[in-house]
Amino acid sequence: MIAIQKNIDLKSFNTFGIQAKAQYFTSVASRDDLGELIQSDIFKNEKHLILGGGSNLLLTKDFSGLVIQNKLNGTSTIEENDNTITLRIASGEPWHPFVLYCVQHNWGGIENLSLIPGTMGAAPMQNIGAYGVELCDVVEKVEGIDLATGVLRTFTNAECEFGYRESVFKKELKGKIFISSVTLTLTKKNHLLNTEYGAIKDTLHAMHITSPTIQSISDAVIAIRRKKLPDPTAIGNAGSFFKNPVITAEHYHSLKKIFPEIPGYSTENQLVKVPAAWLIEQCEWKGKRFGDAGVHAHQPLVLVNYNNASGEEIFSLAMNIRTSVQQKFEIELTPEVNII
Ligand code: EPU
Repeated sequence: MIAIQKNIDLKSFNTFGIQAKAQYFTSVASRDDLGELIQSDIFKNEKHLILGGGSNLLLTKDFSGLVIQNKLNGTSTIEENDNTITLRIASGEPWHPFVLYCVQHNWGGIENLSLIPGTMGAAPMQNIGAYGVELCDVVEKVEGIDLATGVLRTFTNAECEFGYRESVFKKELKGKIFISSVTLTLTKKNHLLNTEYGAIKDTLHAMHITSPTIQSISDAVIAIRRKKLPDPTAIGNAGSFFKNPVITAEHYHSLKKIFPEIPGYSTENQLVKVPAAWLIEQCEWKGKRFGDAGVHAHQPLVLVNYNNASGEEIFSLAMNIRTSVQQKFEIELTPEVNII
């Protein structure tokens, strides 16, 4: 039996730590709960916001509608052989503890994604990625409830239409599917270790590790993230605020003449990905603070709430950053964070 509460403070439900109220709030712990919710008048009449860990979210005002907290839990083994294991994980399970569980069992494929905040359900939504690995590398399928019909739908990896911090769930199916589980296949041996990312190489070297394992890569990633990224339980933030922009090779070469140091990584279709952190730093935002809203001192792509910043203050800082990057480089930054 689900309970719908009124006027709930969302501060503890978003890692930015923004004070905002939900007009209606409920939690679902099973597919039956969700089925019951879909039949309710409040669900039918109000707009909804599905909440996982609240770690990729900026609330700029009170939410006049129904916030649905995902508490679906449980993990089951679907298939296992000598080489691989396939697991189905309920979407409300927190991501990082699951990574640690896999690392402990020496199941490979997601160790580079250690310490990412949020839940399993949010992972395919934005195709989480870090240090050369993306979730789409290990996804078998995603299951979700169609919120219009209550019917369970299955999406193969290809049907998820994964891209850089993108998926079908953020595009044409936005707000239409409640992801209920994610099925991943991980390796039990002959792991495809990914240690190419500069920071991982340097950290493993500093740890005197010459033959990396799943465990040592996870340890290295945790060390890098702890050093560079603010801990959301200590300082409010939602990870990278913007995506790294992709520009034409022509635009990149013209910028290179004016800014010879500009970093860039070739992607498909003759495009170049430029680190947003570099662009923001060049516009002298790194470490800046305005009241309780700020730009992190070690990673300027991360905006922070030192304590009582409002969502509007963070948003206006983000828009000022975007304008200055546009003016200096003619590059438009797109938020990665979901702005409500
Ligand atoms: N840089 C600077 N100044 C800085 C920090 C970075 O100029 O203070 C430049 C450097 O050129 C550096 C480059 O930015 O080489 C890349 O920096 P970093 O390795 O920290 O990665 P990022 O591109 O800023 C992305 C993801 C992160 C992910 C890391 C590691 C996006 C939007 N962000 O950040 O993901 O952890 O790579 O793979 O793609 C997140 O999505 O919330 C997130 C934290």
